[in-house]
Amino acid sequence: MSSSLLTLPKAELHIHIEGSLEPEMMFALAQRNGLSLPYDSVEAVRAAYQFENLQSFLDLYYAGAQVLQTEQDFYDLTWAYLQKCAAQSVRHTEIFFDPQTHTDRGIPFPVVLNGITQALRDGRERLGVSSGLILCFLRHLSAEAAMATLEAALPYGDHFLAVGLDSSEMGHPPAKFQAVFDRARAEGLLTVAHAGEEGPPEYIWEALRLLKVSRIDHGVRCVEDPALVDFLVEHQIPLTVCPLSNVKLCVFDQIAHHNLKHLLDLGLCVTVNSDDPAYFGGYMAENMAAITNALPLTSQDLVTLAQNSFKAAFLSDDQRQGFLEEIAQAAAVT
Ligand code: HPA
Ligand code: ZN
Repeated sequence: MSSSLLTLPKAELHIHIEGSLEPEMMFALAQRNGLSLPYDSVEAVRAAYQFENLQSFLDLYYAGAQVLQTEQDFYDLTWAYLQKCAAQSVRHTEIFFDPQTHTDRGIPFPVVLNGITQALRDGRERLGVSSGLILCFLRHLSAEAAMATLEAALPYGDHFLAVGLDSSEMGHPPAKFQAVFDRARAEGLLTVAHAGEEGPPEYIWEALRLLKVSRIDHGVRCVEDPALVDFLVEHQIPLTVCPLSNVKLCVFDQIAHHNLKHLLDLGLCVTVNSDDPAYFGGYMAENMAAITNALPLTSQDLVTLAQNSFKAAFLSDDQRQGFLEEIAQAAAVT
């Protein structure tokens, strides 16, 4: 496999910015903010990253996010991630953030938003990384809390591409948030949702029918329902698949057993993403390398994954076309 295929221009469409908090930064921010952590060292933090399922990860992820307190903290977090993008040929990124994780502990919404958006602006100007923001609701909290979060965010609506749905999937079906998503769409926002990571195919159907999502985040359990696969293929609904995440959270027991190649062969619009790179062992390049090493992917599959990432992105037709031409040129010389 040519290494230049791994460095094709790509878009990342499934990254939780709070999940890019590396242990080194966690310690630095804790010190800056006068907080103590329940770990002795960076190595001890990394050693704790052994997860049995989504919930066991989320418990540590929400605890880690407590060190994020000031606008500068959110700026530094986002800037560090954007530098990774620039180094790994990620030319466009659509970033999730979880306002409730911060507002519920007293951090004002504008502090979170300003820090992130200033870093995104600098990333565009200084790194050439284009970007957008997706506001996610925490599905383990109530629909009323999600609606209040949306109402508080709407005055800043110009800063968002879309709303999304994350956190504990089981027991919190998309239907719970139908009214919130109706309101977001009425305000002109696009919608996405995590579905079919741990949850059943029925949750993917609900996300499509009730939340009218443009993409499914994860979606790997769609294969359990052939009619659903047919629908996703026919409408080319993108799946933002996160290979290293799926192994770390035990959705698949090892990367060689991941169904990404099968999903591609079914004709689904599959994309590769890092989800929570600081917790799951890697960013875009590490995910690409892992699947390339473990799965029987062809050169064409890698080109298709890069193309899909831009086809699935919330870009203008002109922007999309520009990126697709860059891929065609890069693929032609490999
Ligand atoms: N699934 C659900 N919620 C999340 C995830 C995930 O993979 N990462 C961060 N929040
Ligand atoms: Zn996710």
